[in-house]
Amino acid sequence: MCGIVGYTGPREAYPIIVKGLKRLEYRGYDSAGVALQNGGLHVYKKKGKVADLEDSIAGKNVHAHVGIGHTRWATHGEPNDRNAHPHQSASGRLAMIHNGIIENYAQLKSELVKKGYEFKSDTDTEVLLNFIEEILVKNDCSLEEAIRIALKRVVGAYVILLLDAENPDTIIAARKGSPLVIGVGKGEHFLGSDASPMLEYTKEVVYVNDYELAIIKPDELILKNLGNEKLTPYVQKLDLELASIEKGGYEHFMLKEIFEQPQTINDCLRGRLDAVAGTITMSGIQQYAEQIMQTNRIIMVACGTSWHAGLVAEYIFEELCRINVEVEYASEFRYRNPVINPGDVIIAISQSGETADTLVAIETAKEKGAIILGVVNVVGSSIARTSHGGAYTHAGPEIGVASTKAFTAQLSVLTMIALKVGYMKGTIPQQRYLRLLNELNELPEKAAWVLQQHEKIKAIAEKYKDARDFLYLGRGYNFAVALEGALKLKEISYIHAEGYPAAEMKHGPIALVDENLPVVFIATKDPYHEKVVSNMQEIRARKGQVISVITEGDEHSASLSLDVMIIPEADEIVAPILSVIPLQLLAYYIGVSKGLDVDKPRNLAKSVTVE
Ligand code: F6R
Repeated sequence: MCGIVGYTGPREAYPIIVKGLKRLEYRGYDSAGVALQNGGLHVYKKKGKVADLEDSIAGKNVHAHVGIGHTRWATHGEPNDRNAHPHQSASGRLAMIHNGIIENYAQLKSELVKKGYEFKSDTDTEVLLNFIEEILVKNDCSLEEAIRIALKRVVGAYVILLLDAENPDTIIAARKGSPLVIGVGKGEHFLGSDASPMLEYTKEVVYVNDYELAIIKPDELILKNLGNEKLTPYVQKLDLELASIEKGGYEHFMLKEIFEQPQTINDCLRGRLDAVAGTITMSGIQQYAEQIMQTNRIIMVACGTSWHAGLVAEYIFEELCRINVEVEYASEFRYRNPVINPGDVIIAISQSGETADTLVAIETAKEKGAIILGVVNVVGSSIARTSHGGAYTHAGPEIGVASTKAFTAQLSVLTMIALKVGYMKGTIPQQRYLRLLNELNELPEKAAWVLQQHEKIKAIAEKYKDARDFLYLGRGYNFAVALEGALKLKEISYIHAEGYPAAEMKHGPIALVDENLPVVFIATKDPYHEKVVSNMQEIRARKGQVISVITEGDEHSASLSLDVMIIPEADEIVAPILSVIPLQLLAYYIGVSKGLDVDKPRNLAKSVTVE
């Protein structure tokens, strides 16, 4: 949450910062701002998106070779110009941007108020900044030293970037719990919450770790820990192309990402799955294979869409590996003193690899001796680095705020892990194992087939876009797909939607059903199909509008539905990877037809790095 950008070097800083902020807008878009070094500090900030900031600055002198920029997802203080970052210290000497939350800001603030400080904003950021300045003045020390002292008092998560009017070519950065990447160029450095702002300038990057502080000048990068010991920056080569973060002719990132799924599923399987040889190769899992086979339980921790992937995986692991699986909301798990024994296996599922709750949950479990496996999309992210092992989902950058291709990639990876473990344990019959490998292999082609229905789904969206509520029903493997379909619709169209287990509907939600309620059934062919068809009849009997996702050739379900979206025949274990795609498209087209900004839905942020 919140995107941060910085630049120091010979180029014009402002265009680099603004372009970088636009790429990071997926992290928050409540307000934006820049601070530039140009014979003194110049700060510009504005409520709204980066484009609003640009409009407000048009015509001003933005010439500078050093600067920082911020796009905000509000935590402390409503989104307005005053609370936008950068903030300036009381004396005006320092400017700072921040991503994270300072939990003990109220205490620090009251100490500063007693000393006569006045605050222009409601933010925790301005408190930390003035706390740093207070130490700087009182101790008559370097800014670097003042930051170190201040951060030892701070409880919470942060990435901060500071400019100092007295050291105009330098940016000082520090991190704990929020991401920070430094791009290393020739005589210049770039900073970002991820690598996207620097992609066209350099492929050499340093991922800053927690409790590290960086002093960055055009031709020098000094990395230290909070104990003031120098560290050697570990420069890595970035494996990311510019095209992967651009829209590539699509109207929205979300649509591009939905349509990328045949490719991303393929990328996820490639080099791992060999259906002919009957093997799955996953080195980050192989290392822990013995422990996974011997464990009595696996705990999946995740949030949102990734949690839904965990729910599908629960059924898959229990069936294929005969291991007890618990699926936990990371935010609940971390606070309820869960029983974790050495040897328990935790699978953390996360697209961004930065979700604060998931990160803290695995840190806690790791301390208690659990083995942590990450199923993560963003390479080098905090969750990936905190995990002992695991597997990347290789879906490429997901920029649309609503998760789509990451979900199908997570399911592909989790299915492969379950197949690998189950096969080694001997809990999957050989024939079923080989059949499922083939089923996985066929998924990219089948996903492309499902996507061909986009025009038809657009028409369905048009028909139901004015509904006030939606109900999504599914059973077995498709229960979590119902939850995911409902979540997508809520996020993108702001229509209230509920996902429910199809049979459980009789125990309450059926009271909602009338002729105005669209009910989306995920009714693909599986062992409980007939039961789901009975649930459809129950909804029809109460005049609900039945829309369904069905398997090709299922005339009976089609005859019970007002509208259908079709997937090809697929084993029930892999079917969710296909059945979710029409629901992603349905949500997308409803959002677009309502004129909403589907890539940046209100109040949301892509990477939830605060609790
Ligand atoms: C839904 C969505 C969120 C995320 C959740 C977890 O479309 O994007 O619900 O799934 O915030 O994020 P990650 O997977 O990055 O940990």
